[in-house]
Amino acid sequence: MKKGLPTVLYGGDYNPDQWPENDWDKDIAVFKQADINSATINVFSWALLEPRECEYHFEKLDRIIEKLSQADFKIVLATSTAAMPAWMFKKYPDVARVDYQGRRHVFGQRHNFCPSSTNYRRLAKNLVDQLAKRYADNSHIVAWHVNNEYGGNCYCENCRLAFQKWLKQRYQTLDNLNRAWDNSVWSHTIYDWDEIQVPNELGDAWGAEGTHTIVAGLSVDYLRFQSDAMLDLYNLEKRTIEEYDDQTPILTNFHGTPNKWIDYHAWAKDQDIIAYDSYPAYDEPAYEAAFRYDLMRGLKHQPFMLMESTPSQVNWQPYSPLKRPNQMRATELQAVAHGADTVQYFQLKQAVGGSEKFHGAVISHSQRTDTRAFQEVAQLGHDLKKAGRAFKDAAIPAKAAIVFDWSNFWAFEYVAGITQDLKYVPLILDYYKQFYERQIPVDVIGTDDDFSQYDLIVAPVLYMVKKGLGEKISAYVQNGGQLLTTYASGMVDESDNVYLGGYPGPLSEILGIWVEETDATVPGQTVQVAFENNPKVSFNGRLLCDQIHLTSSKARVLAHYASEFYAGTPAVVENSFGKGQAWYIGTRLDHDGLSQVIDRVVEKTDLKRLCTEKTDLEITRRVRNGQELYFVLNMRNEARPLPVELQQAGFIDILTQAAPKAQLKPWDVEILKRTMTD
Ligand code: GLA
Ligand code: ZN
Repeated sequence: MKKGLPTVLYGGDYNPDQWPENDWDKDIAVFKQADINSATINVFSWALLEPRECEYHFEKLDRIIEKLSQADFKIVLATSTAAMPAWMFKKYPDVARVDYQGRRHVFGQRHNFCPSSTNYRRLAKNLVDQLAKRYADNSHIVAWHVNNEYGGNCYCENCRLAFQKWLKQRYQTLDNLNRAWDNSVWSHTIYDWDEIQVPNELGDAWGAEGTHTIVAGLSVDYLRFQSDAMLDLYNLEKRTIEEYDDQTPILTNFHGTPNKWIDYHAWAKDQDIIAYDSYPAYDEPAYEAAFRYDLMRGLKHQPFMLMESTPSQVNWQPYSPLKRPNQMRATELQAVAHGADTVQYFQLKQAVGGSEKFHGAVISHSQRTDTRAFQEVAQLGHDLKKAGRAFKDAAIPAKAAIVFDWSNFWAFEYVAGITQDLKYVPLILDYYKQFYERQIPVDVIGTDDDFSQYDLIVAPVLYMVKKGLGEKISAYVQNGGQLLTTYASGMVDESDNVYLGGYPGPLSEILGIWVEETDATVPGQTVQVAFENNPKVSFNGRLLCDQIHLTSSKARVLAHYASEFYAGTPAVVENSFGKGQAWYIGTRLDHDGLSQVIDRVVEKTDLKRLCTEKTDLEITRRVRNGQELYFVLNMRNEARPLPVELQQAGFIDILTQAAPKAQLKPWDVEILKRTMTD
């Protein structure tokens, strides 16, 4: 049985090995001023720890760990395997990846190891073995941080051979494989396993990596294989640590918006806690980060760690304006509001050199504490110290769920189809935003999750319906569940072969429709959509416009197209199926058009809003031990009133222990608490 985190961690990546040792005490004293209680160390120290193969030097790390332990810091100890030392590339060139263009990498950068290299695997295992043996008994270590931000793909010969093995396990026979990839097209029939090539730019893929392929079955399988191979690598380290320490949580840090290359649902079960690195772009609306936090929480249906974030700017986005006064606090607490139980930064001390010297940090180049950024970090530290006990381990109950699936992500973006604009995440966000704006909590879940606990499942662009999923959705709706899905759904099986008999294949009966053909809008073009209950007002549809026929007497048209040669035909359909209901939206409706549908769905499914008064504040709810916390976030640089409804609901502000403020300043966050009544 693994332990949980002992407390809310406040801290982040710290690289004392980059600094003179007599700085360490000063650094720690500064951290303490900000109530920082944790440090993530040893993320990129392989060259320090092992200057030559099997020659280990842990003396400096010993001293760092000793120093932090004495200061009673909670240590997140990383394994250092994400950046390989130069000698390793020289001695064993196969440790380096071969990229999508077919080029073997040389020493440099990081995150560029090949998951199939037996040399890399052996060397990584050896290092982790030494580390785990040495530090397993240190009670200040609260988590093991394996590697760093896994992602990307390798296309080397070792990976090709490992892929062939993986395929043999999956398909057993070449007949099965040829059928799955529909290899009769373009003379692709495979007669021997060793003929199988990796889908890089020299083979069956084209364009930028992950965008185009001749054989989607092959390319999607390759991404599944790479995700599995990386997971195997992660588990190699994890098992090695567990030989010495089977109690402290082990995890790696997830990332991206989200990261496309790793199937995080497949990885979640091997993470003791989900950890996420969050770097919202300066021009990104707040709901996008909220979506990613809900996705992370949904991976294990548990609170997660905000493992990295920036206390001020980053150095790698095209532009990084300063966070406005109080903005940093709001963006960090937004993660907490969605289920984070830690707030950790990259990084605690700003480097003098290397590529990240202009990346923000708690201790900046000025090395002063009277800076705006440090004062804000300290303020947040004080607040978390006060509030942490109330929110740690608290759940976020949700009765609606949005489905997000990595195989679907890959296959959908590979579609060589009638528009080049198929991007999965923005289409999911269209739907997430609707619930966010209504202050309706949602979980973001995978296709293997239990649907029955939800009143509504929203599965936009569920292009790929894997084996058994059609039946699962059907049973869910039959039994009284509600389903909302869209254009480009139910089209292919898990190998990307089309379901015959009309789209949306296995979902057709549930939805009471079939789609005859689909129009693609061209840049600048929109198609009008009007609702039956208000036909004079029209909304815009774009991207794809399905030509829908009803097949069930219970199906009702909610909206029709109002322009083009298909004006008057259904655009949005509602159907009753068994004890439940299903909605199909045949085009990418603009925000206000989609709002019309969501209003109806929310009403029919009786989903509760956390606040019924109109507000553009972000509101979430965490519950624990009969207490409920409302996080009310003003994610704007303008003041906003606290809804009267919340002012009068018997809350107290957990930071001031007083009644909530009537007005939220720009980027203000109120954490309100009350005892639950039901
Ligand atoms: C990632 C990495 C860190 C650091 C930060 C900078 O999240 O994990 O090592 O490079 O980005 O934002
Ligand atoms: Zn490889």
